[in-house]
Amino acid sequence: MLNAVHEMRVPFYDIKAQYDELQTPIDAAVHNVISSGVYTISGGKQCGLIERELADLHKVKHGISVHSGTDALRIMMDATGIGPGDEVITTAFTFVASTETIVQTGARPVFVDIDPVTYNIDAEQIEAAITPRTKAILPIHLFGQMANVERITEIARKHGLIVLEDSAQAVGCTHNGVPTGNFGSAASLSFYVTKNLGAAGDAGLILTNDDNVAEKCLSMRIHGMGRERYYYDHLGYTSRMDEVQAAFLRVKLAHLADWNDRRGRIADVYLNALNGSGIQVPVTQPGNNNTWHQFAIRSDRRADLMAHLKEKGVDSMIYYPVPLHFHSPYERFGNGHGSLIETERACREIVNLPIHPHLTVAQAEYVAESVLDFAKAAV
Ligand SMILES: Cc1ncc(COP(=O)(O)O)c(C=O)c1O
Repeated sequence: MLNAVHEMRVPFYDIKAQYDELQTPIDAAVHNVISSGVYTISGGKQCGLIERELADLHKVKHGISVHSGTDALRIMMDATGIGPGDEVITTAFTFVASTETIVQTGARPVFVDIDPVTYNIDAEQIEAAITPRTKAILPIHLFGQMANVERITEIARKHGLIVLEDSAQAVGCTHNGVPTGNFGSAASLSFYVTKNLGAAGDAGLILTNDDNVAEKCLSMRIHGMGRERYYYDHLGYTSRMDEVQAAFLRVKLAHLADWNDRRGRIADVYLNALNGSGIQVPVTQPGNNNTWHQFAIRSDRRADLMAHLKEKGVDSMIYYPVPLHFHSPYERFGNGHGSLIETERACREIVNLPIHPHLTVAQAEYVAESVLDFAKAAV
């Protein structure tokens, strides 16, 4: 039984609370960089250190820091040879960056439907989407847990395909103890401010065990420059992480495991309260550690549920309201309305509840109670 609770305000995110908890070390780290006068990776130490720390956390050989998660996707695709004429199998229930960058390489995204309880790619539908042009499978590890990487890597091996992981929402995620970054040619991380490990702005990182891919990514993030200054081996980008972001991230990284545990405690409150209530709660796939980037429930009366939560002072969000194959730049890659049943249904029904390390158990209980009020009134 949840305790009776009174009205309270529950924000969806509380980024400022992260800073408040770590104000002294963050201020010192940022000040050290600014006062050193060394702001970029050429000469600075912080980017190299965060690269090593994140590579070690994920037990991969190389970490290559870049300007954003989107750049990490684009650069790892270029470095693994994705380009015109290729098809890349992925999902349409996600943030736009994965599909956007596939299209930017000149390749074609091929959308496969999602599993309705994990929201990740339905691995059993991948083989039907493979054609002679298929070059890669790009699973997105959504909401803080990994896609079915065992099945995906098995299919990739059988058909000679590359696997590229979009791990923007999966920093620190593992399957059977093996961290993301180890299931394909490369993986991309995002440190966008709202991510489990959020920068003070934009930042991203590529993880890879492949020396050649690492070498190309390193070059492409600085205009394709080779080992010799102002000699260019590849078509590249300007996509450096800066030293201030790296220093800021390093302070937070030391707290990531604790903060993910705190997210887990909030998820437990929601799961205990909502299980058996008729509200669909997220399912963690066996073998996965869930880092609870998001907590998604569903309602066929979503607008009313969100209005009810708002009245109670509880923020909720919709990740994601419109499937990618309905947006004008990507319509031509899909098969129209009704082609991805679970993707489209999730977009109609999903509601994301607040979940972050600074949400209190009392706040989570209040959120759950507010959802249950609505569910009971709806019967
Ligand atoms: C699944 C997914 N992929 C890619 C990205 C792109 O990352 P960024 O915003 O750092 O470019 C994001 C988040 O923003 C994301 O959630």
